[in-house]
Amino acid sequence: MNKADLIVGLQWGDEGKGKIVDHMAQNVDVVCRFAGGHNAGHTIVVDGTTYALHLIPSGVLNPNAINIIGNGVVVSPENLINKELKQFSNLQGKLFISDKAHLLFPFHALIDQAKEKMRKKAIGTTGKGIGPAYADKVLRVGHRVGELKNSEKLTSKIISYFETNKEFFDVMGVEIPKEEELLKDIRWYKENLESYITDTTQLVWKLLKEDKKVLLEGAQGTMLDIDHGTYPYVTSSNTVSSSSCSGMGLNQKDIGFVTGIAKAYCTRVGNGPFPSEDFGADGDKMADVGREFGTTTGRKRRCGWFDAVAAKYACRLNGVDQVALMKMDVLDGFEKIKVCIGYEFEGEVIDYVPYDLEDVKPVYKEFKGWDKVEGVREFDDLPSEAKEYIKALEELINTKIGIISTSPDREDTIVR
Ligand code: GDP
Ligand code: IMO
Ligand code: MG
Repeated sequence: MNKADLIVGLQWGDEGKGKIVDHMAQNVDVVCRFAGGHNAGHTIVVDGTTYALHLIPSGVLNPNAINIIGNGVVVSPENLINKELKQFSNLQGKLFISDKAHLLFPFHALIDQAKEKMRKKAIGTTGKGIGPAYADKVLRVGHRVGELKNSEKLTSKIISYFETNKEFFDVMGVEIPKEEELLKDIRWYKENLESYITDTTQLVWKLLKEDKKVLLEGAQGTMLDIDHGTYPYVTSSNTVSSSSCSGMGLNQKDIGFVTGIAKAYCTRVGNGPFPSEDFGADGDKMADVGREFGTTTGRKRRCGWFDAVAAKYACRLNGVDQVALMKMDVLDGFEKIKVCIGYEFEGEVIDYVPYDLEDVKPVYKEFKGWDKVEGVREFDDLPSEAKEYIKALEELINTKIGIISTSPDREDTIVR
C-alpha cells in the first residue's frame, strides 16, 4: 500500500504552498486538504494565468488529479459555490467533499467579525468564520456536510440551535436567519454540492490501496497551529503534519515523505508576535517586490527576515524530510540579508520557541546578498552568495533544502 506524501507550511502561512502543491500535483493522482477552511488562499500561476484557491486543493489544475476535501476541513458552501467552483467548468469525478467535514455558515462569519470588534486587541482573523465554525464543532453543536442531504431536518436543527442561543446572537448583534430563507439556502447548497459529497475516508483508503499517489496539502502554517503556534494569535485548527491523520482518516503509518514550505524571508498577516519583523525599508521592499498582499483578504502582509529558530522548530514538529525554499528572487539585490538565529528571552539567548514569543528579541546573523536568482532553474546557476545562504539555512534548521523557487511560475523551480 502506498503512503501519502505531505506538504506543510513552516512559517505563518502564505509560504507558497500552492505553487509547490501544483508543481508536485503534476505527478500525483490525488490531492487532499485536511484542515482549515477558506481562510487559506493559494495563488497559482500557470503559463501566465493566475488562479486563486481557498478550499479546493491545488491539484485541481492537474487535469488528471482527484481532489479531496477531508473531514478536518470547515466548508463554506456559499464561498465554494459562488467563488471557487465558478473558476472551473466541471469538477464531477475530480472533486470529493467529506460528508464528515463541518459546515461553515454565513452566521459564523458574522460572529467572527463581531468578536473581533469586541476584543481589546483583535487577532486579525480573516473574518471568514473559521473560529466560530470550529468552536461549534468542538462544542458539539456543529453540522456535518452529509447533513445537507436532508435539507428540512438540517434547517430545523439549526433553527432550534438559534432559539436556544438567542441571547448570544443578540449580544453579538448578529441577526438570526429566517427559517424559510435558511431552508432555501440549504436546498441551494445541496443542489450544487450533493454530487461531490462522499465518505472520503473510505475513498482515500481505497486509493492508497490501489497504490495511487496521494499528496496531502496543508493550509496555513506551523506558527498558526492552535497548539504549537503563537497562541492566541493563531487559527482555530491544527495545521501541523500530524493533523492530516485526524483530518483525513489516516494514521501516522500512512504518511510518507514530508516537504516543509518556507519563504527565504518571513511574512505574517494579522496580529501577534513576529520576532524577526522588519519595520524599515527592507521590510517594505520585501512587501513590494514579493507582492505581499493576501489572496483571501487583500491585507498587506508584515515582512521580516527568515526565522531559523521557528523554522527548526517547525521542521522537527512536522517531521520534515526536505524544505522548499520559496521566493528567493524577492531578496535579489539586497546588500545584506539577516537571519534570526536565536531569541533573547528572560535574560538569556535561546534557540527554541517558548510558550510566549511576545517579548523575545531576535538575535541576527548577517549574510552577503546576491545580484539575481530570478528565473534560475539549476542549482549550479545560482550566484555563490545564494548557494552559501541556502547551505547556512540548512545547517541552522537541520534539514535539507531540496527545492528552491525563483519566481511565481510553475517552471521556475530548482529541484536538487
Ligand atoms: P500559500 O498560501 O502558501 O499557497 O501562498 P500564497 O499563494 O498565499 O502566497 C504566495 C505568493 O507568492 C503567491 O502570490 C505566489 O504566486 C507567489 N510565489 C510563490 N513562489 C514564488 C517565488 O518563488 N517567487 C515569487 N516572486 N513569488 C512566488
Ligand atoms: P494559507 O493557507 C496566512 C491567519 C489570519 C489570522 C489568524 C486567524 O493561505 O497559508 P482565522 O481567520 O484563521 O481565524 O485567522 O490566522 N491566517 C492565515 N495567514 N495564510 C493563511 O492561510 C491563513 N489562514 C489564517 O490572518 O492572523
Ligand atoms: Mg495563502
